[in-house]
Amino acid sequence: MNSPSRSTFAIEADNLVKRFGDFTAVNGVSFAVPEGSVLGLLGPNGAGKTTIVRMLATLSPPTSGSARIAGYDVEREPDRVRRSMGLTGQAATVDEYLTGRENIRLIGGLYGIGRSDLARRSDELLEQFSLTDAGDKQARSYSGGMRRRLDLAVSLIAAPPVLFLDEPTTGLDPRSRNELWDVLRALVNDGTTLLLTTQYLEEADQLADDIVVIDKGEVIAHGTPLQLKEQAGAASLELTVTDADDIDAAAALLRKTGSEVFVDRNARRITTPAGGLGDLTRVAGWLDESNIAVDDLGLARPSLDDVFLALTGHRAEDENTTDTNESELAASGSGSGEKSR
Ligand SMILES: Nc1ncnc2c1ncn2[C@@H]1O[C@H](COP(=O)(O)OP(=O)(O)OP(=O)(O)O)[C@@H](O)[C@H]1O
Ligand SMILES: [Mg+2]
Repeated sequence: MNSPSRSTFAIEADNLVKRFGDFTAVNGVSFAVPEGSVLGLLGPNGAGKTTIVRMLATLSPPTSGSARIAGYDVEREPDRVRRSMGLTGQAATVDEYLTGRENIRLIGGLYGIGRSDLARRSDELLEQFSLTDAGDKQARSYSGGMRRRLDLAVSLIAAPPVLFLDEPTTGLDPRSRNELWDVLRALVNDGTTLLLTTQYLEEADQLADDIVVIDKGEVIAHGTPLQLKEQAGAASLELTVTDADDIDAAAALLRKTGSEVFVDRNARRITTPAGGLGDLTRVAGWLDESNIAVDDLGLARPSLDDVFLALTGHRAEDENTTDTNESELAASGSGSGEKSR
């Protein structure tokens, strides 16, 4: 429900440049995110993702170029921009000595939310992020994953129309990651516009309508998850037969898909290009009917690395993609481990 005078793009970046001394961290990045959609900013360590988010969130002025959030210019109308957005930074920013509930209420209070609304909202958010039991414990006793979730809960207290999430699921276990994705999908369904940075294609794939791939401060690709994966090459179907004697029969079955079939007799493995889940279930059915036992059957999908290889001809810099943030979080965790009920 935009007023007609306002842009229908919730986030617009226009030729953003950021230099630190002689070093150009962001070199002319442009994109526009329609209201109620999700943009994934994908790139390896040092690509410039956080620097872009910081410029959009008014935390760092662009060297040149401009950006608008909810129609407001980040340099000329920073207060209005801040009132329209929430940000979860890459490093957790919770107050160690406050409880989870107090952290949420503190920020909600700063947004001017009334007491009873605040009490209700903070209960809801604690519940939503599985922190109800921990809500009255000091944040310094939280594990890395719990801090991450508290951080997100805090950024949602004011229900901002635009949300920036810088690597929101780094350091989360798979279950928490899936839960968080569900929470984010629900927000987007309710009309929130999301910009999230990630190093994981899968995360962008799960959530993003549109993906901008950044490398060395520049946009090297922009498209839907499907378009990018097509650029990176098709998925492949891989199967390992249990009995080496079955390999020719299995290869003959796979040829029915009409694709080229690669047979590795030593490994008892067959690989063939696949379109998706449909191929997998069809092949599983054929194998079952023919009584061919398999040790392993699966789809190997293009990874971020494959996308990079396809786009740039070189692999993403092999700087341990687990990211410093994760080790920081792990190091700052209580060490007692996270209990999930
Ligand atoms: N304040 C700063 N001063 C100098 N250089 C900086 C500054 N902030 C970022 N950089 C550099 O800019 C580049 C981009 O950094 P940025 O943090 O935006 O990358 P990123 O894509 O978020 O990486 P990561 O995935 O590791 O979080 C890096 O080379 C970084 O060292
Ligand atoms: Mg970053």
